[in-house]
This record gives sequence, structure tokens and C-alpha cells, in this order.
Amino acid sequence: MPVTVNAGTQLIPDPALIVLVGAAGSGKSTWAARHYLPTEIVSSDRLRAVVGSGEHDLDASDDAFSLLEHIVAARVGRRLTTVVDTLGLSPDRRRGYLAHARRAGLPAVAVLFDTDAAVCRQRNRSRDRSVPAAVLDAQLAQVRDTGGQLAAEGWDAVLRGSAGHETEPAHSPGSRGAALRQQDRPAGLEFILQISRFGWGEDPAGWLRSVASAAAEAGFAGLALMDHLIQIPQVGRSWEPIPEPWVTLGLLAGLDNGLRLGTLVTPVTFRPPGVLAKTVATLDALSGGRAFCGIGAGWWAREHAAFGLPFPSAGTRLAMLETEIEMLRALWQPGTKAYRGRHVHLPETTCYPRPVTPIPVIVGGSGERTLGIAARLADGCNLPSDVASLDARLPVLQAHCARAGRDPAEVTVTVLDVPVIGRDREHAAALVESLRGPTEAAAFARRHHAGVAADHIGRYRLLAERGVSAVFVSLPDLAGPGDLARLAPVVGSFA
Ligand code: CTP
Ligand code: MG
Repeated sequence: MPVTVNAGTQLIPDPALIVLVGAAGSGKSTWAARHYLPTEIVSSDRLRAVVGSGEHDLDASDDAFSLLEHIVAARVGRRLTTVVDTLGLSPDRRRGYLAHARRAGLPAVAVLFDTDAAVCRQRNRSRDRSVPAAVLDAQLAQVRDTGGQLAAEGWDAVLRGSAGHETEPAHSPGSRGAALRQQDRPAGLEFILQISRFGWGEDPAGWLRSVASAAAEAGFAGLALMDHLIQIPQVGRSWEPIPEPWVTLGLLAGLDNGLRLGTLVTPVTFRPPGVLAKTVATLDALSGGRAFCGIGAGWWAREHAAFGLPFPSAGTRLAMLETEIEMLRALWQPGTKAYRGRHVHLPETTCYPRPVTPIPVIVGGSGERTLGIAARLADGCNLPSDVASLDARLPVLQAHCARAGRDPAEVTVTVLDVPVIGRDREHAAALVESLRGPTEAAAFARRHHAGVAADHIGRYRLLAERGVSAVFVSLPDLAGPGDLARLAPVVGSFA
């Protein structure tokens, strides 16, 4: 089902502190319940019922508010969305909440409910326990004064409860507007599924086939595999399976689904460069020209030690990366003539089968020297997906291209993204909670751009607008083919 993004709604960053301001019966609790989870809403009425005889036990107000202060401080301190559902009419209390948000670096939003007085009075009259008319009148007068005060208090936004609202992930500012642009004037972007966890149970090949066919159905253009000898701690536990990628890609090449196939990334330390050239050319031949080769300098000492492989210094590994790319190119050229290049000398280049079409070489990594190598030698450069770091890296890559005399357009930019995609906001939060391990929920949500499909569409649009041509998506909760359905509307909106 396509995702629809609404224009003209007020955006509330997420996470945020949201302080409601309005008279009794103005609709605050109703609004809160419509937009937020019960655990995110801290209500003085609810807390009166917890520490007193009921929601209207005014004798319990002091206890309820001291609890409320405590809960707000604790939640905001963890950068968790917190909706303060009180009358909100005390400037001192508002200042206190705002100070908590500032300390935590959380956006702070006031939402004013200046509901028509007659409506509030009518709602109040029809309640079981009404507020005395004079008390409500005083509240309504105070709300009128508060409207002006809020503007001077330093809130990141002052919104009206009566207008439409949507949340926008604070980690991706501008994503909602970008999603609208994508809806109105779609940009193209290629998606490649990086499979990094293999919960295949007793049927590895069957699981791989089903995931591959679900990926094709969801609109992915290709599949990528990591190349590690032990499952990496960022993804899973060391006793979980992580198959050798080229063998696995060979199996996937036998499926007639048109998906492109390659590594993201293979480290230069695992195989002699000539052997890698042979392996990738074979994959290309077997898949009818669908191979790509993501390569990098490698980073994980442990897997090298465990498998008896040398793990030289970073400088040496980067030099190996240059040599490897040169070797791949040399052995993939047509003909068998001798090759004398910068780092590679070969008496002959007899490597059959040849690639069907030129195999794209994508360099992974974003260090200064790696970007230089990508600019000089690669067909693509794979960078981290967060917009801020992309904005920092792209000019560096472009400068390296200029220095190498290459048109930056010759080096396609791809990103690796590990998104948490929820069916709705609640599901996204539940996924974060189940995946975060010891990482703080807010930090995990930020790192994995947790959100719903529309949030990710907006974020990917921001990447497309920066010239990114393909996104490698690794689903952190990938268990089987069914999980790819959540990605289909995202991928589909860039088709
Ligand atoms: N209500 C409504 N339409 C709205 C908002 C509220 O009909 N758009 C009704 C609710 O169903 C409820 C009453 O108005 O019966 C009061 O709304 P509520 O959200 O409870 O108001 P609050 O501002 O939370 O009031 P209080 O300060 O008393 O908690
Ligand atoms: Mg209420």
C-alpha cells in the first residue's frame, strides 16, 4: 500500500517534551491520547488517582505534582518523549519543564488549547464531576494571557491544539517535507538489501531463496552480503551463522530473479587479490552480468587472528586496497597480455571466464585516505547514511575527484543504512526496545533512524537530493522474508 503524506500539518519533533496548556475541557487529554502512547503521557489527573482517591481528589494535588515532576525529569533525562498533561497554566512549572528539556538537549514544544469558552463550559457541564463555573472562567482568562507569554518563554515551537499534527523524527529534520516532495515529484533511488543476519534455522538454502524472492518482490535491485569470518558484534552473537559471501552469492546467482549480487564489503586481507578477481568474475559469468564488488580495508582484528590471517597496519591495508583494485581491473580486462601498472605487474592476464559486463567496484569507508582511493580508482564510494555525516564527507570526496582529474559523476555515491522501520510509531518504539541491547533507547533510535515508512521515504529523498544513487539497506530485525513487506512501500516510492 502506498504511503500518503499530508501537507500543511504542524510538525512535532520526536522525541520531544510536549507541554499542554489549556482550561478544563479544552481537549488536552483527548489530543494527547490521539497522538501519543499512554506511557509517554504524564497526567496530573492520572497521578491524583494513583496517590489519592481519584482523578479529582484535589487534596492529593501536591503529591501528584511532586510525582509528576519526578517522572518528567526521569523521562526527559533519558530523552524520551514526554507529554505533560496538566492545565499548564503555571509559568514557574512550565519554566521547570523547559529547563529539563534544555539540559537533556530535547526539543521542547508547548501546545495551546484555546478552545472556544462556550465549548469548554458545555463540555464541563456534561461531565460527571464538573469544575465550578467560576474556576473554569478563571482558567479561561488565564489561557488567554498565556498565549502571549508562551512566545517569550523560549519554546522551540508553540503549536495550537486545534490544528493538525504529525510527528517528525528529530534525527531527520526536514524529512516530512522531503517525503512530500517525493510524493509530488518522485526521484529515483536504487535499493539493495544487505543481508547481515541469517536466522535460517534448519534450512539455510531455503531461507536464502525465500528472502531473495521477497526482496525482488519488494522492489530491491540487488542483494549484498557482508564478508566476515565471525558474526560481528554490531549485528549478532559470534556463534550465529555468517556464511562465506561468494559461495552464498553463487547460490543466489542460480535464482532467476534479476537481482544484482555482491559484497558490502569484502576486506582486502582475506584473499589474494588475483583470487578475488577470479571469484568475482566467476560470479558475474554465472549470474549473467549481475555481480558487483564492494571492497574495504578491513577492520576487525579478532576474525583475522581466529582464522590465522595476518592483520597488518591500517596504512598497509589501505595500500593493499589500491593494489587490489588495480589487480581486479588488470585481470578483468579483455585479452591475456602482460600487465605493468603502478602496483601490479603480471606476466599475463589469463583470467577466464571474463566478466560479462564491467563489474562495479565500490569502496567502503569514509576515512580521508579511503575517500582518496575511491576518488582515484573506484566506480562507487559507500558512505554512512546519516545526512549530517554525508554532508561532511561528500565535499571531501569531490575534492579528491578534482585532484585526481575525475568527474565526480564517475564515482557513484552509495550509503549503508540500518533502519528501524515500524508499521506505526508504537511499533517502531517496540522494535527499538527489543533491539537496543545495552544502548540507550533514544541513542539507538537516532542511530537507526527509527520511524515509520513516511519518515524513511523523506530521509531517503534527502539522500537522493544529495546525489546518492543507491542505498544498501540492512534491516536490524530481519528474521525472514515477511519482514521485507514493511520496506516495499519505501522502495516502491523511488521506483
Ligand atoms: N472532546 C471532544 N472533542 C474534542 C476534544 C474533547 O468532544 N476534540 C470531549 C472529550 O471527549 C471529553 C471532553 O471533551 O469528554 C473534555 O476533553 P478532555 O480531552 O478530557 O479535556 P482536557 O483538556 O483534558 O480537560 P481537563 O483539563 O479537565 O483534563
Ligand atoms: Mg485532561
